Amino acid sequence: MSTEHDAPPPGEEGVTRRTWLAGALMGAGLLASYGTLAFQFLSFLLPKRLKGETRLLFVGPVDRFALGSVQTIMDLKGNEILVRRNGSDFQAFSSVCPHLGCRVQWMPGEGRFFCPCHRGVFDADGKAISGPPADAGQRLADAPLVVDKDNGVVYLEVEVPNRKGGRA
Ligand code: FES
Repeated sequence: MSTEHDAPPPGEEGVTRRTWLAGALMGAGLLASYGTLAFQFLSFLLPKRLKGETRLLFVGPVDRFALGSVQTIMDLKGNEILVRRNGSDFQAFSSVCPHLGCRVQWMPGEGRFFCPCHRGVFDADGKAISGPPADAGQRLADAPLVVDKDNGVVYLEVEVPNRKGGRA
């Protein structure tokens, strides 16, 4: 039951409504901000497989790779991937140097990757062993390979770009 004492003094009704509206807008803004932050955090935690659609990109038959060889392929986004055969195992790395982004090259005679920009050297497993990348404890980024040993085929797992060029 309301009395005259419960009603706001004349002229302060608008202030009360404005205060409530400002509070609601601030609450909505905070909710949107924290919601976005929570989404980004969960996206970071979720395995890559759950984030976007992936496909297997045919790389080639296993016997196309000589032991110890490295071949360069392109993923669906045009990134160079270096695929190395090590016995019956395969490894794949991004060709982008983690130091400042130059392209590394495979040096077959030395069994190492070399970055010509600042003379960075990486071992066959992609770990930096000399130059600025080694000083920073860096390594070449791994690329996900799938080897179908039953059928003798090597695939690269790639994210499928959506129509806007992002993730599916
Ligand atoms: S960019 Fe490769 S060593 Fe600097």
